[in-house]
Amino acid sequence: MQYKGHAYINTIGCQMNVYDSEKLAAILNALGFHPTRDMDKADIVVCNTCSIRHKAEEKAFSFLGRFAKEKQKKPYLLTVMAGCVAQQEGKNAFKRLPHLDLVLGTQAFSRFGQHIAALQSGRRQIVDTGPADGFFEIMPDTADFCENQVSKFVTIMQGCDNFCTYCVVPYVRGSERSRAWESIVEEIRILADSGIREVTLLGQNVNSYGRKEGGISFARLLEKVAGVEGICRIRFATSHPKDLSSELIQAMTDLDKVCSHLHLPVQSGSDKILKKMNRGYTRDIYLSRINDLKKACPGIGLSTDIIVGFPSETRTDFNDTMSLLTEVQFDSIFAFAYSDRSSAPAAKFADQVKEKEKMDRLNQLLALQDQVTENINKKVKGQVVQVLVEGVSTRLHEKFVKTSDKMKQMTGRTASNKIVHFPSDTSGIGDLVDIKISDAYLHSLWGRPLERLTP
Ligand code: SAH
Ligand code: SF4
Ligand code: F3S
Repeated sequence: MQYKGHAYINTIGCQMNVYDSEKLAAILNALGFHPTRDMDKADIVVCNTCSIRHKAEEKAFSFLGRFAKEKQKKPYLLTVMAGCVAQQEGKNAFKRLPHLDLVLGTQAFSRFGQHIAALQSGRRQIVDTGPADGFFEIMPDTADFCENQVSKFVTIMQGCDNFCTYCVVPYVRGSERSRAWESIVEEIRILADSGIREVTLLGQNVNSYGRKEGGISFARLLEKVAGVEGICRIRFATSHPKDLSSELIQAMTDLDKVCSHLHLPVQSGSDKILKKMNRGYTRDIYLSRINDLKKACPGIGLSTDIIVGFPSETRTDFNDTMSLLTEVQFDSIFAFAYSDRSSAPAAKFADQVKEKEKMDRLNQLLALQDQVTENINKKVKGQVVQVLVEGVSTRLHEKFVKTSDKMKQMTGRTASNKIVHFPSDTSGIGDLVDIKISDAYLHSLWGRPLERLTP
């Protein structure tokens, strides 16, 4: 396609937004807009936005706000707000950003190209928050792939029907829709053919895949994906504790390619708060699922999401969350201070917790988790772990000693999702390498390769 200009895409938010942005980039590329990392060179700027917390939303407005001035200098510059904030705000986005050209909702991505064409023929201020059609059928543009990639996200479902009382997702991403399994497998085959070795299957609630459409259960989908030649590791996120079936646990133990790692958001350790959040499980149910997992997959890596300072959370409720961390021994956590979202019911709940108290609890929780992570990582010292090599490290480790011209410091991950750095003059990106761990840190492990396993 003839060169029309440069496109700059800024992605805020979750892994699903990263996936969507790649497809937006592919649509732009087909229209002749080549990707650039230099904002000043851009002829079109897209911000793919997130509204999960107030801060993320503000980030989107402030990023796009800076182009008001820029457009006075470059009147041809097109600015686009895409994703969750776009869906939430619709035409209201123009009130704060009068210079914006396109508001592209979460289900309007397949119509992106046609809106760009309309803008180029003189239309201004287009809003599309309409229903979905065909976005899943757009396959990745492998010609545009960076050779040095080993891992890719693949969205397998959109939306959410769970209505947790704090969460904006069901309102901005719509109701749960599973993608046809044939289309998922076709996309993964294309990725594998272009050298990708690991895929992460994405959805707000992946383990309820196939409940309505899709054709097969999530466990069966894992089997189909495991059948794709060239793919050596499969991950998935996010799973909901209430839908963690024994069929899925069985599939995780049976399928070698499925990584021994699970991200299972608990949100709180207090039954009172879990009920108010509408999570659909109690602390005991959650803990018994974790026990089942640990029994079926010894050594499994576990991570979770936690919200502190949900309305009416007392110090006692918070301490229940603290004790749950000690009990489960997660390898890592993502913790957030509760943020009011006006479209979600919890915004109207009584007894909102003060910001300072939320921050105190957040810091206390993170400090406890640092100790837990450090202790878990220490136990890996002396063990041999298999690492999928992702690339050359950007920062050299204090342990790195160069012994030959070819020696580089490489980085990769274990199946349980731990980052490992190691020196090597033979391993390349995409190799599976056995590493003997000699040092453990809070955020990474350090070791030396034993031998090369696969070319
Ligand atoms: N669908 C996934 C992830 C949802 S968004 C799930 O249900 O687990 C990722 C995380 O953001 C959530 O797990 C939750 O911990 C956090 N989050 C969602 N809404 C929030 C809010 N209003 N304030 C603070 N954190 C929030
Ligand atoms: Fe943000 Fe949630 Fe939307 Fe992802 S789905 S972009 S986390 S609001
Ligand atoms: Fe859905 Fe998760 Fe929210 S399951 S309602 S997105 S926290």
